[in-house]
Amino acid sequence: MPDIADPRDRLIVALDLPDVGAAERLVERIGDAATFYKIGYRLGYADGLAFAERLAKQGKKTFLDLKLHDIGNTVEEGVRSVSNLGATFLTVHAYPQTMRAAVKGRGNGLKILAVTVLTSYDDADAAEAGYALPVAELVAQRANQARDIGIDGIVCSAVEAQAVRRVVGSERLIVTPGIRPADAGLGDQKRVMTPGQARAAGIDHVVVGRPITGADDPCAVAQRIVAEMEGA
Ligand code: C5P
Repeated sequence: MPDIADPRDRLIVALDLPDVGAAERLVERIGDAATFYKIGYRLGYADGLAFAERLAKQGKKTFLDLKLHDIGNTVEEGVRSVSNLGATFLTVHAYPQTMRAAVKGRGNGLKILAVTVLTSYDDADAAEAGYALPVAELVAQRANQARDIGIDGIVCSAVEAQAVRRVVGSERLIVTPGIRPADAGLGDQKRVMTPGQARAAGIDHVVVGRPITGADDPCAVAQRIVAEMEGA
């Protein structure tokens, strides 16, 4: 797996907050304990992209979890626009046309991560959506395609990570949500790993939201997560 020089870069804090003001306050409270932030639909569609650009200018790394999927030309041009926001990661859905277009449009060091199959889908959901393959096979097929197309990394659940690693090899990144420190509540996450287990499983970056955003001392929780991964 790719080398990561600063251990703090392994933790990505999900800024699932209602507005930019709340996000700014949280980033301020976390201070130097975290270097990497994820902005998804909620904040992204509430002025979060301009905020992400400001964060990048302040030296933070940003992950724009926009899960793009459209005709190739639209994806390519969209990714080209995102490449100007100073972000480190951008997600797209792992459809071959979409991934090829994203790779064409990426620039300024932006890395494209592919979401293979949403973890809220089980085999019945995939069948309902018209897929003949069970989810595990669909994940493996799309991870294979992502590797061949030159996608930089895969977003998957921690429990799929080792199977995905076998498919994509050591050069691609694996980024996983569903990470919970041993003493944190699960929320709606069901299949979780601790930060130490994730590191031991060869996961490059973990995405953690509520255990940090809802903590009395978000800075201390972020520090503990980074330390736990370093020790694993
Ligand atoms: O609060 P929590 O740590 O559960 O946040 C996890 C983050 O990762 C959220 O932003 C969520 O949308 C995202 N995510 C996830 N499961 C996936 C893909 C993304 O929890 N399969």
